[in-house]
Amino acid sequence: MTTPISERLDDLDEARDSGRRKMDWAIQHMPICGALREQFEADQPFAGERIGMAMHVEAKTAVLAEILAVGGAEVAITGCNPLSTHDDVSAALDAVDGITSYAERGVDDEEYYEAIEAVIGHKPTITVDDGMDLVAAIHEDYPELIDTIIGGAEETTTGVHRLRAMDDDGELDYPVFAVNDTPMKRLFDNVHGTGESSLASIAMTTNLSWAGKTVVVSGYGDCGKGVAKKASGQNADVIVTEVEPRRALEAHMEGYDVKPMAEAAAEGDVFITTTGNRDVIVEEHFEAMQDGVLLANAGHFDVEVDLDALSDLAVDTYEARNGVQTYEMADGRRLNVLAEGRLVNLATPIALGHPVEVMDQSFGVQAVCVRELVENGDDYEAGVHAVPDRLDKEVAEIKLDAEGVDFDSLTDTQAEYMDSWQHGT
Ligand code: NAI
Repeated sequence: MTTPISERLDDLDEARDSGRRKMDWAIQHMPICGALREQFEADQPFAGERIGMAMHVEAKTAVLAEILAVGGAEVAITGCNPLSTHDDVSAALDAVDGITSYAERGVDDEEYYEAIEAVIGHKPTITVDDGMDLVAAIHEDYPELIDTIIGGAEETTTGVHRLRAMDDDGELDYPVFAVNDTPMKRLFDNVHGTGESSLASIAMTTNLSWAGKTVVVSGYGDCGKGVAKKASGQNADVIVTEVEPRRALEAHMEGYDVKPMAEAAAEGDVFITTTGNRDVIVEEHFEAMQDGVLLANAGHFDVEVDLDALSDLAVDTYEARNGVQTYEMADGRRLNVLAEGRLVNLATPIALGHPVEVMDQSFGVQAVCVRELVENGDDYEAGVHAVPDRLDKEVAEIKLDAEGVDFDSLTDTQAEYMDSWQHGT
């Protein structure tokens, strides 16, 4: 049985200090979470609730966990990826009153799922997931808890896809907010967050430049758009691969080269997958690639680049740099995989995840969704729910206020005009 991280670290005091400093830095740049923290501290909306979380345990997530605990909840948290946890932050969180953290970096599959079970052992009344592993484990192995669960909130595209598939099969037995899909999350976190942090992580891990490179971006959804735009902004040539005709057309009209992976494979210097799908880069593509290419994945699971096929093709593999595994082919070409094909912006050794300001928005939405479940949970039936627009707007207004940005409101006449079908030419 997994124990909290504090029972497993050697230099616990040092780790807690370091983690606390990272959290203090983050909260300074998180005005939305800061404002909600004050509100929750005063109102204690989560008193008596047990919140189970499976998320990337780093400083910004820690701020979210802490504001839920400050609002009265008992919080149990673990990671949602074996490589994205910052152990010092996990240790600092575990020291906060009302929080138990099981997250540790570098766990194997068995330890990963044991930690999920340890969180479930707290009998959560609310779940906060990034990828849906908690919801899945509860439904598969602990269905007796479902009666006392008010609801959940899901952070990412892949988690929402999985939840919708579960809902379509009639298997989702409590309400879950699709936090990912709401504008205050998706248009900032997926686009700017993934774009900036993936590029930063790849550059820092390799010490290589973007200028003059050909970057192949697979998937032109929200994440792909961000990655393509930021790569282009760093003077790279961008090729987009897609399977959805309108997305392919959008990329084409944006000025990117659009082509099948079978052609792009031979041209790219850097490959970044953002599809949420599997087997996007496979054996035939590896065979066409140039010597020295970088392969990185920014999608949720490590199945976008077929590493089994790459291993089979390789005559030698070695760690070229911290976070870079080189696969040497029989003809001498070296193909370099970052972060074992896991989320490159979160799982390289130096990765910091999305910029703090971006996560302030995403986690602001998470926090108001948890508050909504406590206040109005009975209004939501089992299934996937859009985040109510009033909550999304509330978060936007807090942010605009913090930024000192004033904006217009509709006059009564304008509101009446916009709501009317009777005004014509
Ligand atoms: P999305 O659904 O908006 O975009 C995915 C795109 O990939 C779609 O346009 C789809 O047509 C395309 N696609 C699917 N299969 C493909 C294939 N075989 N080849 C080429 N294109 C293909 O999803 P979004 O929001 O962009 O998320 C993508 C992934 O990134 C998800 O797994 C999500 O969970 C993850 N994500 C990662 C983040 C990070 O921090 N790295 C942050 C947010 C999301």
